Amino acid sequence: MLILGIETSCDETAAAVVENGRRILSNTVASQVEMHARYGGVVPEVASRQHILQILPVVSQALKQAEVTLDQLHAVAVTHGPGLAGALLVGVNLAKALAFAKGIPLYGINHLEGHIYAAWLQGDDPESSPGFPLLCLVASGGHTDLVLMERHGAYSLLGRTRDDAAGESFDKAARTLGLGYPGGPAIQRAAQGVTPGERLPRAWMAGSLDFSFSGLKTALLHKAQSHGLTPRSAGEAMGAGDVASREPLVKDLAAAFQESVVDVLVSKTLDAARRTGANGIILGGGVTANTLLRERMRASSGGLPVMIPPPALCVDNAAMIAACAYFHSRHHPVAGWDLDIMPSLGLG
Ligand code: KG4
Ligand code: ZN
Repeated sequence: MLILGIETSCDETAAAVVENGRRILSNTVASQVEMHARYGGVVPEVASRQHILQILPVVSQALKQAEVTLDQLHAVAVTHGPGLAGALLVGVNLAKALAFAKGIPLYGINHLEGHIYAAWLQGDDPESSPGFPLLCLVASGGHTDLVLMERHGAYSLLGRTRDDAAGESFDKAARTLGLGYPGGPAIQRAAQGVTPGERLPRAWMAGSLDFSFSGLKTALLHKAQSHGLTPRSAGEAMGAGDVASREPLVKDLAAAFQESVVDVLVSKTLDAARRTGANGIILGGGVTANTLLRERMRASSGGLPVMIPPPALCVDNAAMIAACAYFHSRHHPVAGWDLDIMPSLGLG
């Protein structure tokens, strides 16, 4: 079964062709990062406009790379939420048009569920090894969710962030430190090889599987200010002179910040896995591209299988949307032509 996946929920215009939910024939992403970097974050109207400009070339390229024609497709899958309304509309409308024109099924996919299904795109099939139930951490720019996946399509939400998402906190911390956008990769680069001297707090939320990252963000800001590092305007990069004098402190604070976030994510994920008796752990979402998080999770799981997609499949892509639709097709009816965007869609 060949499924065309389309993803336009935020700032990546993406299309992919996936065979039987697991074999990637193509996975094309046109990033808008440079476009938004000058504003220090995603500007929704700019994102919608870029999706409109890029979606047709991206879909054409995905089909070409896969050596598949529209007539050979068995279904079209598209992210219909959560995400930016105007951005989601571009993908959903194109997916409807393609499915209608070709007379094939249309699937509306939850972006967060898509992040989980990236784990099906490499290695063993998690359904057979280690098997359900699986504990999933989805950590992206807008969400930090711990969910128990009992079987395909069945999720219970165990914990979520009460304020900032983990990715959002990386983005804000990078801005405080003058490291630019997107913050996750920038913090990771700055923290590379640094053992932090500073220590920043962790919000453990005793007894709960919820997260909170806004206190950490404020603690970082105060620490930076106390050292004479002031927050910079959106998108401003450090000048060459600045970099030399501030570099050791910025690196140290970046490393301390990364340590705090990773520590909480790893501890709570393991706690949730123990409490639920899950057979394994799946990580998904842009934050799970973080090297320290990947290493720590693997090193601390005590033998519990940990499945983490390669970084390119952790960040937004359309292969995960096509993969999800394949398994989704077994337990959900196809979407009608009235499929609508759901900007606030959740999991479980
Ligand atoms: O899943 P994603 O690509 O898009 C959303 O669905 O939001 O996640 C984007 C988020 C951003 O906040 C970005 O800073 C973060 O993931 N991110 C990282 C890394 N790469 C991306 N955070 C930490 N370390 C990384 N290496
Ligand atoms: Zn995402």
